[in-house]
Amino acid sequence: MKSKINLAVLISGRGSNLKAIINAIKSGYLDKVDLKVVVANKDAPGLQYAKELGCSYHVVPRIVPGKKIPKEEHDRKVMEVLEKYDIDLIALAGYDQILQKEFVNRYKWKIMNIHPSLLPSFGGTLHGQKDALDYGAKISGCTVHFIEEDVDTGPIIIQAAVPVKDDDTPETLANRILEHEHIIYPKAIKLFSENRLKIVGRKVIVKGELNASFISDAAYHMKRIGVEENAIKHLLEKCRVYTVLVENITPREAMILKQEMLSIGGDCAVPKECILNNLVFVDAILIGNSIQLKLLVNKLENQVFNLTKLAEKLEENLANLKITDD
Ligand code: GRF
Repeated sequence: MKSKINLAVLISGRGSNLKAIINAIKSGYLDKVDLKVVVANKDAPGLQYAKELGCSYHVVPRIVPGKKIPKEEHDRKVMEVLEKYDIDLIALAGYDQILQKEFVNRYKWKIMNIHPSLLPSFGGTLHGQKDALDYGAKISGCTVHFIEEDVDTGPIIIQAAVPVKDDDTPETLANRILEHEHIIYPKAIKLFSENRLKIVGRKVIVKGELNASFISDAAYHMKRIGVEENAIKHLLEKCRVYTVLVENITPREAMILKQEMLSIGGDCAVPKECILNNLVFVDAILIGNSIQLKLLVNKLENQVFNLTKLAEKLEENLANLKITDD
């Protein structure tokens, strides 16, 4: 069995789902996916993401000067392109064309689509979000499903529910749904690439496996799983542990630092002689994230000896700390 699946993405428009898929590949989240080619049926703005990535892309125009190519003929032209890349999975991402029988059968259960509604409601349309709003639905959302011959009826892989607000416009609702599209589409592709999807009748059984892996790009994954933006900022501060060398303090001060840091979930490395208190000056190393170090400053402001001075120094250094995103 191949270690990676060959993916093709078909687009017609701005390509934000394509971008989410590319980001997931770049981050290593889709580590079993090779994006082989992006195909558009017009000069779609989303092609820019394929260009930036440096992957192959093709425009197979549906409309050529003076005429609209019949759907079947156009499908065949697209299939000719795909044949060159030994494709295992095709992701339709805002592809505004209904695939015909021959195409669907050629890639049976190897084509996915993302639709901006909770199917089977509001399927078969390019404006599922507006239709849900006009209908007065209270819950909308998005669906990733396999393609079968009928439109938007194929077996459902993942869905995300998005509450409709009273003051929603088609645009505000579409934007909130889109955030969830960017979460569930890469997830569905990942499940496929790991061979975890089994179609039984109309149902897609997801053979999930519990996993826990160490990651180095928490910022990306927080965005990917849909953590709120302000929360991401705060949580990223917790992800980064700093080590601060404190020089020329007394053993007693070092022991107080250790106690204070332990009380807020950090730690402080002190020399073993601290216990004996037989040195005049020692050095210590504070270990904590910026939130803990800020808490330490507050605590030290009310402490004895030279610790209030240390609070000032720490506060100054913390102010100069640039918390970055990675
Ligand atoms: C998305 O809303 C998707 O659900 C629908 O078309 C839109 C494509 O958006 N099928 P984008 O081109 O991926 O930004």
